[in-house]
Amino acid sequence: MMAPSKMSFLIASLIVFAAATPSAMAFSFPAILPCIPFLPRIPLFPCIEPTPLKEPTECRTPLLKMLPCAGFLAINSSVAVPPSTCCEGANAVGMEGAAICYCRVVDGEIQQILPAPMNFTRMFSLTDECGLHFRLDALAENCDGDGAPPMTLPSPPAGN
Ligand SMILES: *[C@@H]1O[C@H](CO)[C@@H](O)[C@H](O)[C@H]1NC(C)=O
Ligand SMILES: *[C@@H]1O[C@H](CO)[C@@H](O)[C@H](O)[C@H]1NC(C)=O
Repeated sequence: MMAPSKMSFLIASLIVFAAATPSAMAFSFPAILPCIPFLPRIPLFPCIEPTPLKEPTECRTPLLKMLPCAGFLAINSSVAVPPSTCCEGANAVGMEGAAICYCRVVDGEIQQILPAPMNFTRMFSLTDECGLHFRLDALAENCDGDGAPPMTLPSPPAGN
């Protein structure tokens, strides 16, 4: 059995430690990653809210940034690694507030702007090939088919 004075010292130390810990962590883990709206926040890794915060209304425009990936993504492609312009574009989609549009990559809708059918294995490998800050396969499990904006907005009904 611990002497009461020792016990209260221990408790006081724990309180000081707990109070000191959050600011210490804030210094260790600067917020450099964009938040992905539909994923739970990762403890200890604060994320920055990308700008603009307004969700895109269509995904074609943001995903055009990934066109340099077309050669690498194509079925039967002989391009072994994605070019740096592809990786920059793939990261830019999320950094510029359109992370929700990664859902249109993993569900294959991005093929509407690609010149050839996509090799899904290669698409998922962009996570490692480009050092993306999130896993495309993990996103795929969180994408709800109706939750993401369409690739293109439907044209207004004729006669209006
Ligand atoms: C891929 O290559 C196979 C075998 O050569 C061929 O049958 C198929 O049509 C090719 N697919 C595309 C999209 O080029
Ligand atoms: C898809 O990509 C993977 C990884 O590069 C490769 O092993 C596979 O043969 C490709 N499939 C087709 C149909 O091109």
